[in-house]
Amino acid sequence: MSNIGSYEEKVKNFKWDDCEAELGYKKGDIINIGEYCTDRICRMGKGEKPALFWQGYTGEIKKYTFNRMRVLTNTIARYLKDLGIKEGERVCLFLDKVPELYFGFLGILKMGAIAQPLFSAFGGESLFTRLEDAEATAIITQKKHVGKVRKILNDLPRLKHVIIVDDDGSKPLRQRETAFSMETAASVEDFEIFPSTAETPSVLHYTSGTTGKPKGAQHVHYSLISQYITAKYVLDLTDEDIYWCTADPGWVTGTSYGIIGPWSNGITQCVLDSGFRADTWYQFIEDHKITTWYSAPTAIRSLMREGKELVQQYDLSSLRHMCSVGEPLNAEAVIWSGETFGLSFHDTFWQTETGSIMICNYPGMKIKPGSMGKPFPGITADVVDMKTYEPVKKSGTVGLIAIIPGWPSMFRSYWKNEEVYRSKFRNGWYICGDRASIDEDGYFWFVGRDDDVINTGGHLVGPFEIESALLEHEAVAESACVGKPDPVNMEVVKAFIALKPGYKGSDELELKIMNFIRKKLSPLAMPQEIEFMDSLPKTRSGKIMRRLLRAKEWGEEIGDTSTLEDNE
Ligand code: WT7
Repeated sequence: MSNIGSYEEKVKNFKWDDCEAELGYKKGDIINIGEYCTDRICRMGKGEKPALFWQGYTGEIKKYTFNRMRVLTNTIARYLKDLGIKEGERVCLFLDKVPELYFGFLGILKMGAIAQPLFSAFGGESLFTRLEDAEATAIITQKKHVGKVRKILNDLPRLKHVIIVDDDGSKPLRQRETAFSMETAASVEDFEIFPSTAETPSVLHYTSGTTGKPKGAQHVHYSLISQYITAKYVLDLTDEDIYWCTADPGWVTGTSYGIIGPWSNGITQCVLDSGFRADTWYQFIEDHKITTWYSAPTAIRSLMREGKELVQQYDLSSLRHMCSVGEPLNAEAVIWSGETFGLSFHDTFWQTETGSIMICNYPGMKIKPGSMGKPFPGITADVVDMKTYEPVKKSGTVGLIAIIPGWPSMFRSYWKNEEVYRSKFRNGWYICGDRASIDEDGYFWFVGRDDDVINTGGHLVGPFEIESALLEHEAVAESACVGKPDPVNMEVVKAFIALKPGYKGSDELELKIMNFIRKKLSPLAMPQEIEFMDSLPKTRSGKIMRRLLRAKEWGEEIGDTSTLEDNE
């Protein structure tokens, strides 16, 4: 089965009101994402349907029905409420992809707090910056990650509760720590769900920009409308599907389409809590008879590297629809997947800020390999001139991707940073910060980002955050970080460093600095290459010219450096 209909028909007849009606929602009603993903599905008679097949890195498997998920999310919600956590407070999730992460997310929403999911591989400094900015009052974590929290706790006076979900009582708990096991806690059959309405804050997702600290994109419960309908029509989820989203909920794909979209549609999901390995992935698809799959170009290119022969060792005949997001999906990857799986990956484009898919290869629509497709019905997107913010009109002209504000899952602000939020809107458009062109058939073609943010394996890392961390290393006097082209990850971080007097660049020092960043920030932010320089190129006003360094890495014409100085 499939939801496929004509894209043109859908565009013509699309109304957000119809999506609301489908969800039984009317303006002004209570709308709580936690409720919609669990209780409502049970009320529709799907309580005994599997909601989650979870597989750990050791091969351990756990299964949960929608009813069990309803009760467990209630149990977590009750626990948080009993701790004294109030509506609107930020509760951070700092967990591997364990069931507690998924159910914790919905439990937080059910009791009216704001969920702040963070990638569990973050080091102390990345964690600290985001917890401090969000002024989180609680963090839910695991034994294996609590050490990182302990080290920064003294500088986070607002963080009152450190909740450990897998504590076995073998070691005494420290200050502010509490142990909680959702499986053994008394089950909460009925929980009075927080009566959130459309504009009640729900999720805070941190994303990196070129300058300053990472920013918290603030979403609201009404985002559900967009996430529900795009999961239904772009991921083409139907009642019989077994769906797998490979993304970590530390990033928006893992919440919008790894939690909210599929579960509000009552879909069975699979989660694999282990790192990338082609054979494990194919085995996972075969074992769980996965039908619909949402992944990312870096993973797809890694699968390509392992070759077609490996694919042929598995029975992947259950697959019927595949999508991709996060970075440009190259034409070769689309063609390879068509030849290898008999199915093409459908590229989709969106951002943390947009909360849901904006541009997509709509199922049934002709795929032009290398293109991101067309705007989702109900979304008005265009390419606008970089200076006037007027639509470029002429096909093939490169400009900025722009969207008319007002779709349900649009972010409502950056946390405590209204000014930067406002700067994203120009001439009535929301400006995504990406360059693209539109062809004569209305297909969007990605060109590149309009800023210095590095996209490594679909994850954005801010050069400023890495440069600041580098300066904390005893040997580093100056630094600049840029994205360097990479055949699999699209970009990797390259750092240019000028050393302090008395230090000499060496392989050993390079390794030491890399590890310093890996521990402090994350494996993603770690430079894959360091180039030591006597001094870094600067403008007359003393600013490091990152663009010049980047152009060099990409083999681009540097051209007139006076204009570079203007644009820095
Ligand atoms: C940035 C947003 C939204 C899911 C994960 C990323 C880049 C995203 C594509 C695509 C080319 C893409 C853009 C965008 N991006 N999808 N299909 N083709 N680039 O969310 O971390 O907020 O990153 O990822 O540069 O602005 P995010």
